[in-house]
Amino acid sequence: MKAFPDTFLWGGGLAANQVEGAYQEDGKGISTSDVQPDGMWAPIRERTGADWSIKDVAIDFYHRYPEDVALFAEMGFTCLRLSIAWTRIYPNGDEEKPNDAGLAFYDRLFDELAKHNIQPVVTLSHYEMPWTLVKNYGGWGSRQVIAFFERYAKTVFNRYREKVKFWLTFNEVNISLHAPLTGVGIPDDSSKSDIYQAIHHQLVASALAVKACHEIIPDARIGNMLLGGIMYPLTCKPEDILETMQANHTWQFFGDVQSRGSYPGYMLRYFREQGIVLDITDADKEVLKETVDFISFSYYMSGCVTTDEEQNKRARSNILSMVHNPYLPASDWGWQIDPKGLRILLNTLWDRYQKPLFIVENGLGAKDKVESDGTINDDYRIRYLNDHLVQVREAIDDGVEMLGYASWGPIDLVSFSNAELSKRYGFIYVDRDDQGNGTLKRSRKKSFYWYRDIIASKGERLEP
Ligand code: BG6
Repeated sequence: MKAFPDTFLWGGGLAANQVEGAYQEDGKGISTSDVQPDGMWAPIRERTGADWSIKDVAIDFYHRYPEDVALFAEMGFTCLRLSIAWTRIYPNGDEEKPNDAGLAFYDRLFDELAKHNIQPVVTLSHYEMPWTLVKNYGGWGSRQVIAFFERYAKTVFNRYREKVKFWLTFNEVNISLHAPLTGVGIPDDSSKSDIYQAIHHQLVASALAVKACHEIIPDARIGNMLLGGIMYPLTCKPEDILETMQANHTWQFFGDVQSRGSYPGYMLRYFREQGIVLDITDADKEVLKETVDFISFSYYMSGCVTTDEEQNKRARSNILSMVHNPYLPASDWGWQIDPKGLRILLNTLWDRYQKPLFIVENGLGAKDKVESDGTINDDYRIRYLNDHLVQVREAIDDGVEMLGYASWGPIDLVSFSNAELSKRYGFIYVDRDDQGNGTLKRSRKKSFYWYRDIIASKGERLEP
């Protein structure tokens, strides 16, 4: 393959609640993720001391990060996406003063990355918010939460202004339509009006964070983060094409607001026709004009859309309830593998926004087998990543402007949807199972050496 541009950042991505553990250490508060110990759709479990969750320790990144960062450096990472746990900084979310011990932890982590010349790419909120804000205020359903988030964002921008030059606002901001508790801290069975109102508050908060970042760290760049679930029409029937366009609008809407600065007409029509009346003030409309500098997104799979009701009934097996594409294989979790879809998505986003793109999640969740000699031969992961990176290279040739690529979970972590450690994404294996057994020892998989070679060759060693 032709080499990737010199400026292209190579690395991986993590989220605090899926790696750190130490869930009550150094003053950390309880987050929405802490009360979802069995995954994003399982019932909430309030934490009552003796209660157990795989996330309490996760992979113990909170204590082991120097070793992990050294391993990332050994692979040649030039960037690491990670998130700050809001509850380490403001344990309940509504305090006046931040928690020093929480701030100090991320100072140590960013210093460790700097030692290895790895750029942090920091998500302000990755699928978690202080649980107290949910219980006492009603999550993002409350306008008051905007100010709490703004205070948190300003605190970390001021604190890390010299250390972090890439920021992201809300992880997969469009997840709220599928998982309201995870996305906006309101009950999963909330009405459409309540969900969109909470989303509106979050979009205003995202724009306020963009504004604050530009003011406090003028040389930083801040992006949004979308779940890039591209959908194809199942047939060429015009009804299917139209339905697909509308299905894609449900996620594009978030990017349109964050990147173009206002609600698109198709969304206003949808609200009108659904009888959804939102509280959107003139001041909100002004704030929304603060648009992101770049677009970041996750990409794991694509899916299809049809007007055929029978097929739709069967399509409940994956995160977005997409209809299966008969031309694509699927992972063990039913996520359909579609490398060319990544090129299509990159072109779609570039055409739509004309802003640089950053892939901040992509990878294969799979069960790994440790051989008797300790090796882990994860050729399936290498194949998946190789094929997706080849399509990234193609998109660059198509003229798409790219900032970089961070594969998801470069070290095994607790998966979000089902809170499993056995669904592994990493180049680095962590000895821990779903019941919490294991030494937490790290070891290099075959893909570790593969990714190291790909980064060292700037992608030239990818197999077309
Ligand atoms: C994305 C999330 O939706 O998908 C990550 O941003 C998550 O937090 C990833 O881990 C993969 O999903 P899962 O359920 O396999 O962890």
